[in-house]
Amino acid sequence: MTTLPIARMGAEVLKHRAAEVTDFSDPALETFLQDMVETMHAARGVGLAAPQVSKPVRIVVFFVPAARNAGQEIPMTAMINPIITPLDDAKNDAYEACLSVPGLTGMVPRFTNIRYSYQDITGARIEREAHGFHARVVQHECDHLDGILYPQRVVDMTSLAFADVLQAEADAKGEDLELDEEG
Ligand code: NI
Repeated sequence: MTTLPIARMGAEVLKHRAAEVTDFSDPALETFLQDMVETMHAARGVGLAAPQVSKPVRIVVFFVPAARNAGQEIPMTAMINPIITPLDDAKNDAYEACLSVPGLTGMVPRFTNIRYSYQDITGARIEREAHGFHARVVQHECDHLDGILYPQRVVDMTSLAFADVLQAEADAKGEDLELDEEG
């Protein structure tokens, strides 16, 4: 397995819609998924989209720790050609961070409840529902497939900050600050 370099904001590959995967018989697909998982772990992220490793295809890997999903872990999942459908209009705000935007964090509204589907490595389509942080991770990662980085979703630009500065400010005030893992 190989750890791949992560593209940072400004790179052309992060700005465009990525292509559907059509060839599920390509043996390079499994190797690429393994490399994405290794790269995500090495970077201590919870998610990674293929354009972030400079490959403009519709592939995402992610997991959700139990502590972030009401005690139920969402195990490592590789999504190919994912599709998201919001279940209702409810949205929530939380700080997000991104491996392609190192050091920064910002408050992003996301749909709270979604249904999503994706193809697995065999091409079979899987359907799931997600809520809260799980739904947020999926929306953040799938945005990468459409050339969107989270700063483009920040509504209150005064929330955009360096994560370590924000943390230091919260510590000084004795406040709890929940910063999301990077994806
Ligand atoms: Ni990201």
